[in-house]
Formats: sequence, structure tokens, C-alpha cells
Amino acid sequence: MTNRSIIMTGATGFAGRYIYQQFVADGWQITTVGRALPDDFSPQPKQHVVADLLHSEKIAEIILQHRPAIVIHSAALSKPNDCEVQKDAAYALNTAATQNIATACAHIGARLVFMSTDFVFNNEGPYVEDSKTCPVNYYGSTKAMAEESIANTLANHLIIRTVLVYGRPQSGQQPGFLQWVVNNLRRGETLHIYTDQVRTPCYAPDLAKGIHLLIQQDARGTFHVCGQEAWTPYTMAVAVAEHLHLDTALIKPVTAAQRPELAQRPSNASLCIDKLKATTGFEPTALGDALPVIFEEG
Ligand SMILES: NC(=O)c1ccc[n+]([C@@H]2O[C@H](COP(=O)([O-])OP(=O)(O)OC[C@H]3O[C@@H](n4cnc5c(N)ncnc54)[C@H](OP(=O)(O)O)[C@@H]3O)[C@@H](O)[C@H]2O)c1
Repeated sequence: MTNRSIIMTGATGFAGRYIYQQFVADGWQITTVGRALPDDFSPQPKQHVVADLLHSEKIAEIILQHRPAIVIHSAALSKPNDCEVQKDAAYALNTAATQNIATACAHIGARLVFMSTDFVFNNEGPYVEDSKTCPVNYYGSTKAMAEESIANTLANHLIIRTVLVYGRPQSGQQPGFLQWVVNNLRRGETLHIYTDQVRTPCYAPDLAKGIHLLIQQDARGTFHVCGQEAWTPYTMAVAVAEHLHLDTALIKPVTAAQRPELAQRPSNASLCIDKLKATTGFEPTALGDALPVIFEEG
């Protein structure tokens, strides 16, 4: 009988929840691993194993015990500013736990799907999958180290680099970037938003679909899964404000030089998705098509 079981970390995350739901909908039996599951987490997993991945050895034990066909490792310390001040935790979760997971997957012949980021790059986008990594902050460094460790440990892997994932937050989740913009504008707040960060943002349902297609195709290696339109946080904010007829004059352009953040941001980490399109036929949703769905009434 075919093994249709998955162990997934980070299923409660903003992007993680979409990925989890995509595979549940396709009939995969998912055991989630992480801290507490929120009461409203839906659909309930086959099993939830409580583990703090900062203690990274435990995840290997869980994988060896459950022997899944696939491990989706989506948990991360994912806020770049937090990673600058909590370097030990960022390394433990983003790099060391990933190393342990890769070793355990290699041991049982499981496939590893690892969630990585455009932040492994800097200012020369659009980048392709084979471009040399060049992170400018610690978050990006921990992910680049994890990618390297996976590539050196097992061939049966998918490294998924995604970008500024946006969509409708699910129950119990924090507002994402677009909702934060809308909530502030509705309160009449002035916003200062960066113009000097070119990105290729990813619509959350597309991310889940893209990963699912790659698994169906039995693809291996590194893939960029994101949109194909270049945006900056500033142009995205203006687009959502225009869509909802909010006051765009409240959105003030700023640069990193004017308002530096703790973690430096890449200035053009846009990603090329030609490899994903050629492998799976994936076509990303345009932001203009996603906005009416995200902000539809009711
Ligand atoms: N969202 C984006 O825009 C984006 C862009 C590029 C790459 N990525 C990558 O894609 C992945 C998924 O992103 P996301 O949006 O779902 O991230 P997220 O919303 O920040 O969620 C992080 C996940 O990691 C889990 N986690 C954090 N610390 C943990 C710990 N000590 N032990 C166990 N679990 C822990 C969290 O679980 P709790 O519920 O316990 O907190 C949560 O499920 C991440 O690897 C991220 O780096 C995301």
C-alpha cells in the first residue's frame, strides 16, 4: 500500500496553514508537530505531536518513529528583525532543526519539503534557482545554511523559496501585510512604506498549489514558488488602497536609508518562476485578481 502520510512542522503559520489544508484536501494523512494547536485549528490533523523545535533533536525521533513518506518543514523564526536579536534561537530553529530533519529523512527514505525564502538573495533580482545565495541578514543566512545542509544530505528534497505570502488570514491568525495596511488606512493613520524592496509576492493559495503540483510531478531540487509580478511594499499598499477606495495620500514612500530596520532588507530579491512553470504548468494569480477574493464581503 502506498504510504500517504506526512509529518508537517509549522502548520499553524500564515503560509503553513494553506499548505496543510491543500494536502489534507488531497487525502494525505498529516501528523502535525509543534507547540500547541489553536482550538479553532481546522481540519484537525490525524495526530498532533507537541514539540518545541528549539530542542531540535526531538523532531528526528518523531520522524524515525512515524516513518512518513514526506516531511514538510515549514516552522521557522520567520521575522527578520527577531532573528537579529535572537540569533541562537534563529539558528536552532531555522538551521539546526532542519539539519536534523534532513538526516532523519535520509535515514528512512522520506522526501523533505523545506520552506525557504527570497531573503537568501540581495539586490540583483530576478534570481533563478541556481543563483548563488548572498543573504544580507541573519534570517536569510540561517535559511541559506539550511538549504546547503539539505542539498548535502539527501537528493530526495524540495527546497521551496517563496516571497511575501499574502492572502486572507484564517481564523485565529494575525493580519497579514495587506490587512495591516487596510486596517490602518481605515483608522486614518499615516503609513510609511518602503519603495526600495523589489519582491515577487506570492498569493497563499498559489503557494500551496505550487508545492502540491511539484509533489505530484515527483520533482526534486530547488524551486521558486511565488508570483511573477514585481512589486514593492509601497506599490502593493497603494494597489490595495485603490482597490478598496481608501485614501492613498496617507501612504508615504520611504527608503531603507530614511528608516533603517534592525535587519537589512534585500533591495531586489525578486524570483524567476520559469522552472516551476515549465515543470508543472503552474500559472500564478495576479495581485489584481487576488484582491477581490481576499477582501470580498462576508
Ligand atoms: N510568510 C511569508 O511571507 C514567507 C516568505 C518567505 C518564506 N517563508 C517561509 O515559509 C515558512 C512558512 O511561513 P509562515 O508564514 O507560515 O510562517 P509563520 O506564520 O511565521 O509561522 C511560523 C510557524 O513556525 C512555528 N514555530 C515557531 N517557533 C517554533 C518552535 N520553537 N517550535 C515549533 N514550531 C515553531 C509556529 O508555530 P506556533 O503556532 O507554535 O507559533 C508557526 O507554525 C517559514 O519557514 C518561512 O520562513 C514565509
